[in-house]
Amino acid sequence: MMDAHTPLLPPDPDHAQHVPVLLEAVLDGLQISPGAWLIDATLGGGGHTAAMLDRAEPDGRVLGLDADPAAIRRVEERLADAVHAGRLLVAKTPFAELEKCAAALDFLPVDGVLLDLGVSSFQLETPERGFSFAAGGPLDMRFDPEALYSAADIVNSWDEQALADVIFRYGEEPRSRRIARYLVKQRPFYSTTALAEAIERAVGGRQGSRTHPATRTFQALRIAVNRELEQLESVLPQCLRVLKPGGRLAVISFHSLEDRIVKRWMQAEAQSYVPDPYRITGGYERQPTLRVVTRKPITAGADEISRNPRSRSAKLRIAERLHD
Ligand SMILES: C[S@@+](CC[C@H](N)C(=O)[O-])C[C@H]1O[C@@H](n2cnc3c(N)ncnc32)[C@H](O)[C@@H]1O
Repeated sequence: MMDAHTPLLPPDPDHAQHVPVLLEAVLDGLQISPGAWLIDATLGGGGHTAAMLDRAEPDGRVLGLDADPAAIRRVEERLADAVHAGRLLVAKTPFAELEKCAAALDFLPVDGVLLDLGVSSFQLETPERGFSFAAGGPLDMRFDPEALYSAADIVNSWDEQALADVIFRYGEEPRSRRIARYLVKQRPFYSTTALAEAIERAVGGRQGSRTHPATRTFQALRIAVNRELEQLESVLPQCLRVLKPGGRLAVISFHSLEDRIVKRWMQAEAQSYVPDPYRITGGYERQPTLRVVTRKPITAGADEISRNPRSRSAKLRIAERLHD
């Protein structure tokens, strides 16, 4: 059995490490037992997957998905023993295809599903992927480099209104209109640093704030490029369908837009009364499909935050499937 100090993955000299967040809480929340079948829908650096395989020893299996082919390649290499033993299957696919993928690979039903949303340290720290303005890179931000459009396509071709709306909705940026107006005047932009500098000028400098004024706009563009909220809304009901009764779903989110979607969906599925959205019939009774295990989200303690600052904004919610 693994303890908190066991190295989960061999060190990778070529890349930054992605430290899995809330690891023990995820493993405990999923109630992984020997022989369990699990899906990690956001493989990333494979940190959670490695620990899940460890807990499910000797013959438990994980199906790992990621939209990013670089993540798939890296995990295949680093967890090659599990791949060769047939205990780890990986697939390059958006998680909105989770159910189809699990069915095609005959990996149904499962005991647990993990979604660890957002971006990995590998993606953030690879300037060529364009996720970060800390190091200059192309304005890309696609999890899947073959996806249709990049952040540059949005910034350089959407009209001012659409750009302002996306920055406001997905970045919760109160200065969205001012930023969009300025960007439309100054475009085209092809690099992360050029865009970040323009946003800084648009809002009149840093004004003493510790966070860069481009942070919210970058988050908004990433969410829009990868259709992150649509993907999340699509995968949640699929998670329920692939789980065995008694199986567990764990979702880690990193901002309030994601957490709100997860929380509302879990609450709605846990209700025995479904209100009529048109307020005509007064709604109906039905069997709840899941039980919410975490009334309040689990968050990282001071210790984890000091070791891994990424965990600061992480919120973990867990639910259990109730019946067939
Ligand atoms: C936070 S990282 C996961 C880290 C992982 N749990 C670990 O311990 O290394 C999120 C990963 O999910 C992937 N991802 C995000 N949205 C996705 C989607 N809709 N479909 C498939 N993969 C997605 C990203 O490419 C990224 O590699």
